[in-house]
Amino acid sequence: MQESRTDQRTKSQRAIALEDKFGAHNYHPLPVVLDSGKGVFVWDVEGKRYYDFLSAYSAINQGHCHPRLVKVMQDQAARMTLTSRAFYNSVLGEYAQVLCETFGYEKMLPMNTGAEAVETALKMARKWGYEKKGIPKDRAKILVCEGNFHGRTISIVSMSTDPDSQGGFGPFTPGFEVIPYDDIPALEKALADPNVCAFLVEPIQGERGVFTPADDYFPKAIALCKSRNVLFISDEIQTGIARTGRLLCGVADEESDPMRRPDVVILAKALSGGMYPVSAVLADHDVMDVFTPGTHGSTYGGNPMGAKLAIEALAIVKDEQLINNSERLGRLFRAEMQKLVDAYDFVKLVRGKGLLNALIIEPRTASVASPKSAWELCLLLRDNGLLAKPTHGDIIRFAPPLIITEEQLMECVNIIALSVKQFA
Ligand SMILES: Cc1ncc(COP(=O)(O)O)c(C=O)c1O
Repeated sequence: MQESRTDQRTKSQRAIALEDKFGAHNYHPLPVVLDSGKGVFVWDVEGKRYYDFLSAYSAINQGHCHPRLVKVMQDQAARMTLTSRAFYNSVLGEYAQVLCETFGYEKMLPMNTGAEAVETALKMARKWGYEKKGIPKDRAKILVCEGNFHGRTISIVSMSTDPDSQGGFGPFTPGFEVIPYDDIPALEKALADPNVCAFLVEPIQGERGVFTPADDYFPKAIALCKSRNVLFISDEIQTGIARTGRLLCGVADEESDPMRRPDVVILAKALSGGMYPVSAVLADHDVMDVFTPGTHGSTYGGNPMGAKLAIEALAIVKDEQLINNSERLGRLFRAEMQKLVDAYDFVKLVRGKGLLNALIIEPRTASVASPKSAWELCLLLRDNGLLAKPTHGDIIRFAPPLIITEEQLMECVNIIALSVKQFA
């Protein structure tokens, strides 16, 4: 669109106005218009620099525009980007091997977005339920948790308990039962139904506000599901790939016993380091083999560009020791945030694991009687050079790229402390 010579608005204002006018209003972005990124930093169209403390909802674990990923993308773009699965391509086999060996599963199925991978796991679980468990036709049931977030498709919002996600989108897909999160007795009760084929759950409920369950919730829930011949499906889309100080949040890195790990793992986001949508479902033969030619697929799933990027993105996690960095700096970050919790009544709680954390802010009334919420605090953070996004009105998620250094993290701690002081 042509810029008028008399248009006095800033570049940011013009970009926001355009998006507002021509784009669907299905998001409520913080008013900042980003133009470039490098490592832990992003720059807006006016050239102001910010620390990125959202990392595109944990997709940018390896940092913005990682040079190794940029190189892979450029090289592969010039060589071949898409074959479809009508033919083999020269990268998918190697990628599948890397993924299976990295995460300890026998098979992988490549998709693109997180929601597609979740849908894949749901289909796989139902088919497994009929073919392997012997559930009567069309009676399979999948257990999910209150407060879940698994994406935005019709079937996925059918199991949501968030009114904004679900309202107005019925009729819904049947076959889901919602149980409370972090509640082993509730799971045990629901598992009494022999038609249950799977339990789908997040190791930490990121979108609910980094809602972190008891440390023994996952091991106990996995053991229960195994004992009832029910597939345990771990949605690691937000928590996986070193984000929480482990390769996978829901299972210890040293765990090699298949009886103590999820039957199915779903990955996306940081699997490509934020370069391109790449997702995958991991499982062993006996589960994955329910898919036969023609039963599932995606034109872009398994394309050589995504496959090359994912191989490199996982290598970066290893070479740059992002698991250790996330674990060590996460502890430091929570200790520093605890100082704010101790100092200010309205800062209620810090929670999380590794570098996926949240601060709970009590909504306040300012002296001029205007309400102040986590949104206003995020605006102050922005003005002070750090980008984060509120969720549910009173929770701010802090999830920087995992390549952040201790010095940078402490600078961010100071920005957060200053903003909280200004907010008080
Ligand atoms: C736990 C979880 N599952 C699924 C999704 C959906 O992923 P996508 O937005 O790539 O469809 C998300 C996205 O935030 C997520 O956090």
